[in-house]
Amino acid sequence: MIGIKVIGLGKSIPTRCVTNNEIASLVDTSDEWIKTRTGIEKRHIAVTETTHELATRSALEALKDSNLEAEALDLVIVATVSADTAMPSTASLVAKAIGANHATCFDLSAACSGFIFASEVAMSLMKQSGYQNALVIGAEVLSSRLDWTDRGTCVIFGDGAGAVIYQISHEENQVLSIEIGTDPQGAELICLPIQTEKNTFFKGEIKRPVISMNGRQVYAFSTSKVPTSIMQVISRGQIKVEDIDWFILHQANSRIIDSVAQRLDVPKERFFKNISEYGNTSAASIPMALYDVKNQLKSGDKVILCGFGAGLTWGTMLLEWH
Ligand code: UT7
Repeated sequence: MIGIKVIGLGKSIPTRCVTNNEIASLVDTSDEWIKTRTGIEKRHIAVTETTHELATRSALEALKDSNLEAEALDLVIVATVSADTAMPSTASLVAKAIGANHATCFDLSAACSGFIFASEVAMSLMKQSGYQNALVIGAEVLSSRLDWTDRGTCVIFGDGAGAVIYQISHEENQVLSIEIGTDPQGAELICLPIQTEKNTFFKGEIKRPVISMNGRQVYAFSTSKVPTSIMQVISRGQIKVEDIDWFILHQANSRIIDSVAQRLDVPKERFFKNISEYGNTSAASIPMALYDVKNQLKSGDKVILCGFGAGLTWGTMLLEWH
């Protein structure tokens, strides 16, 4: 048998915390609206930190947690849509900083589902190519990609990074089932154009490199696709929804999480939330949430991780915690 274990977790957030009231001094919104419509009370915003620095800090903590030397890492994948550079990859910069000199490194873009996509890719490579240890990071500084005059987006996002180290095991398997998917018909519902210097001959429209989102339609997608994907993964794992101890969903909106709990007919208490503290940190949100809930997890607990977002993408993973 070739199984996969989680052997280390890490997290890093920028120092500066920005409250809803501070945002209300920039755009026409209020603490009350943001709290009731999203569950967000504050978020951390990078003032000096960069995406690869946050990613590196989370990686160093995950290495310490796993008692693994960086030299033992075979693979580093960073899920991000807010890399500091298109090249080198964030993963290469992280590997350089931590001394992962034998690792194959690349970034992966699947927005808020990025961590689950990167985990699926890492685990497939581990099983097929013999990599023993893989570091998967979700890291974002989306504050640098926001239109700070657009109240529909600037109130939602926050910055941070979370890291997980996976290891091949011949004795146990913690990843019981996983699925990732895309609905390209909704591709334009959340957009982030890339900032480029257009060539002298370019005659097309130059788009601003900031996030735009059709919140209502993405909300409708999330609340219908997430329960379906969770049920699919649970049935593949040959267990029942009532056997799941923890649901760790992408922290996009507290109301989306409550709606999924209701649709699955599962008590809300089994759905972990830290959105009030960090807002929506896109690809970083699931590994950050896993890090925050880890002290409450017991050996044998069944845990669902589920991401959803731009693409439109979704990804769900069923873990048995040890
Ligand atoms: O992470 C990737 C996946 N992303 C998601 O899953 C996000 C999904 N969408 C959402 O979470 C929600 O749609 C939002 C939080 C983005 C917006 O909440 P909503 O309840 O769907 O608001 P809405 O867009 O339907 O707007 C309702 C009203 C509008 O006013 P009118 O037209 O009813 O007068 C908006 O202009 O709320 C207004 N509004 C605001 N008011 C105060 C929109 N944003 C704000 C704001 N403050 N920040």
